Amino acid sequence: MKHENLSAELLIGTQSSSERIQTQLKKPGYWVGNYFNYFITLAHRSDDWKKILETWDGLPPDEFMADGGKYRRRRFSELQYDVQNDEISILPHQPFFQDKYNNTLNGGRDRHFEPITPYVATHPFLKRMIRDYVAIFSRYKNVSSWKIYLHQVRITSSKDIPGFPTPEGIHKDGVTFSSLFCVNRTENCAGAENSIYDNDKELIETFTLKRFGDLVLFDDSKIYHSVSRMNSSNDQAASRDMLFLEFTAQGDENV
Ligand SMILES: [Fe+2]
Repeated sequence: MKHENLSAELLIGTQSSSERIQTQLKKPGYWVGNYFNYFITLAHRSDDWKKILETWDGLPPDEFMADGGKYRRRRFSELQYDVQNDEISILPHQPFFQDKYNNTLNGGRDRHFEPITPYVATHPFLKRMIRDYVAIFSRYKNVSSWKIYLHQVRITSSKDIPGFPTPEGIHKDGVTFSSLFCVNRTENCAGAENSIYDNDKELIETFTLKRFGDLVLFDDSKIYHSVSRMNSSNDQAASRDMLFLEFTAQGDENV
């Protein structure tokens, strides 16, 4: 399928506009770029944010891998963004659940993950990020509140033992809008390419999120996505740290 998106490899690292993001979320359904080139503020570059990056080092292993894999570490929390009152709150911690339709490998059961620490979940940077994204989403889906799944995830691999960022394969997240934010990717990380597909699962584009802030925003109803396997290109362990924010519209839609 031909689409109007500029090449993702061109967009990453270049300035974009809110209009372009909004247009591309409508069609073809996703936008790729670097967060800091669009949502740039000096506050976002504070040293305090670097402390958040270090928290990926403390992620516990994911014990709910149906493939027996030991390559994923993670934390998970649920937030609520009350748009009218502009309040972001942490919801009571519960297991993460996806149905089998959206996750044929690990779906269909409660998965118990350690909560994201209050330091990260209440950090001004994270709140700013949520408000930035919702400002974009609200241009054409103006709802009173959003439930937000927040995932901190690290995939590790060695030369001989691969890691699988999406072991479930081509999938949807089962939400309204979703985002994939690259926190860190070690130099020796090989593979882990993102692919975007239309709703007939025809490949639209493949690209790689490499730098801090490289970001995909998408309308989950309009595309499928996947990430290919990764390996280390040398004798050291490779890792890929990501922050996923998944948004589900709650309440009445006003427009
Ligand atoms: Fe996903």
